[in-house]
Amino acid sequence: MRNIELYRDDQHLCILLNESEELEEGGIHSNQYLILHQGNGILLDPGGFGVMPDVLDGLLEYCEPKDIRTIFLSHQDPDIVGGLASWLELTPAEVFISRLWIRFIPHYGLPSSGRLHGIEDTGGAILLEDGASLEILPAHFLHSEGNFQLYDPVSRILFSGDLGASEISGRELSPFVDDFATHISNIEGFHRRYMASQRAIAAWLATLGDRPIDLIAPQHGPIYRGQAALDLLAWLENLHCGVDLLQPGGMFVR
Ligand SMILES: [Fe+2]
Ligand SMILES: [Fe+2]
Repeated sequence: MRNIELYRDDQHLCILLNESEELEEGGIHSNQYLILHQGNGILLDPGGFGVMPDVLDGLLEYCEPKDIRTIFLSHQDPDIVGGLASWLELTPAEVFISRLWIRFIPHYGLPSSGRLHGIEDTGGAILLEDGASLEILPAHFLHSEGNFQLYDPVSRILFSGDLGASEISGRELSPFVDDFATHISNIEGFHRRYMASQRAIAAWLATLGDRPIDLIAPQHGPIYRGQAALDLLAWLENLHCGVDLLQPGGMFVR
């Protein structure tokens, strides 16, 4: 486990709880993020069943499980929700996920609970203690049908879920992308196949508007900072993907 602090001031802390290098299951590596605001915790996409002990280890450096008040799930995938049953037992957190997935995620072996809350398609906010809030931004079909990102106006970090994700990992790699051009080959195949369409990207970019962004923090792979974050947005603006490329017989045009 190596925690990386992405932002810190007196009241507000954003941390990447990076899982260890080797996954026993051989699954894809994932990034888990913890936001602490005045000591209250929001855990983003806490990860699969196998990474839960590691993520808990990292979290304990900063707070207690009882401090986790909110769990935000960008979408329904197993690398996000697989460990949720344990987190529900350990923490008092209320859980937020697209209303589309509320009826499906109990199949992850969750106890019946009034702690799951459906997010409406147009998004919303997670309210913090002192009137501040985190914005829940719609990013539907990127890649999931009911898909949200979290924007933190304090740290100016966009937690982007699978958008911007890459499948590379390893201790020798930098946790940040500074030169976007050399990173394209790590993300192009994934985005062309998993992201739904250019139209979905355009709708999301219009939603994002001109919010200031210092970091784009995806659920897999390194975090985009500075110019690389802006370059990612510009690259996505021109990307054709998913159903744009789909051909009969399951082929995708290049
Ligand atoms: Fe996913
Ligand atoms: Fe993912």
